[in-house]
Amino acid sequence: MKKLNISSKIFVDGGDPKETREAKELLGFVHGQTTNPTLISQNPIVRERMERGEKFSKREAYHFYQEVVREIAKIISGPISVEVYADRDTKAQKMIEEAKEMVKWIPNACIKLPITKEGLKAANLAVKENIPLNMTLCFSQEQAAAVYAATKGAENPVFISPFVGRLDDRGENGMNLVENILRMYRNGDGHVNVLTASVRNLNHLLFALSLSCPLITVPFRVIKEWAEKDFILPDENFNYQPQNLKPIPYQEISLDKDWKSYNIYHQLTEIGIEKFVLDWQSMIKS
Ligand code: E4P
Repeated sequence: MKKLNISSKIFVDGGDPKETREAKELLGFVHGQTTNPTLISQNPIVRERMERGEKFSKREAYHFYQEVVREIAKIISGPISVEVYADRDTKAQKMIEEAKEMVKWIPNACIKLPITKEGLKAANLAVKENIPLNMTLCFSQEQAAAVYAATKGAENPVFISPFVGRLDDRGENGMNLVENILRMYRNGDGHVNVLTASVRNLNHLLFALSLSCPLITVPFRVIKEWAEKDFILPDENFNYQPQNLKPIPYQEISLDKDWKSYNIYHQLTEIGIEKFVLDWQSMIKS
């Protein structure tokens, strides 16, 4: 097995323990895992069940999510992100209650909260309870600044997940957001770790590696492609060439403001929340 000389930690982005096992066989390691409601709804067992026309009760769906996460925890010891249910109306208190339950599922759980007003409020409370966090659906540098400010003093590292592929999908250079957040956080105390997410291709992965992004979550199909290319690494001449993507410029944003004062609205965060809710509910009997 090839020894990979990289500083980034590689996570698997998925909801199927079989993929985690295979990724570990290919790489020789897996440092962590991210899941989300969409990925759980795409698990082969869920799909088969849905094809038979059998949906889950709400309780069964949570139980299934828990089983998947427990199975993954048998394969890897690094952080496994588990996402709380959050729709437009979910209040911080409800998110915290769910986070407190989910964090008991496995010893290495890391709770995903959306970067919304209520999600940030929940994050601010969660760090006081020492709940490890992954702040998800990040599409702007200002959201990343708000996460930094809301989680200041956290004793566990906090992750933030900029969603590269979804910005690319609408013609913006998602990798610029990763670069910008890394640059902005250089002015900080290091308590928030950037986790490149929504990786769609090998180029995203290679560019994130060339930036030494601390954490990168990668779908199994991209890990397989990487293995087929003998785990190619970016050299000093690596040139990320996004096709027709609009650059996202760096903004000077202070990390020292009150977390409530940042403008955290982003349309893609709202759309992302709706999609997670729809995918989760598609599994559940009405
Ligand atoms: C991981 O934490 C994210 O939920 C995932 O990377 C999103 O990927 P997608 O934009 O391909 O759905």
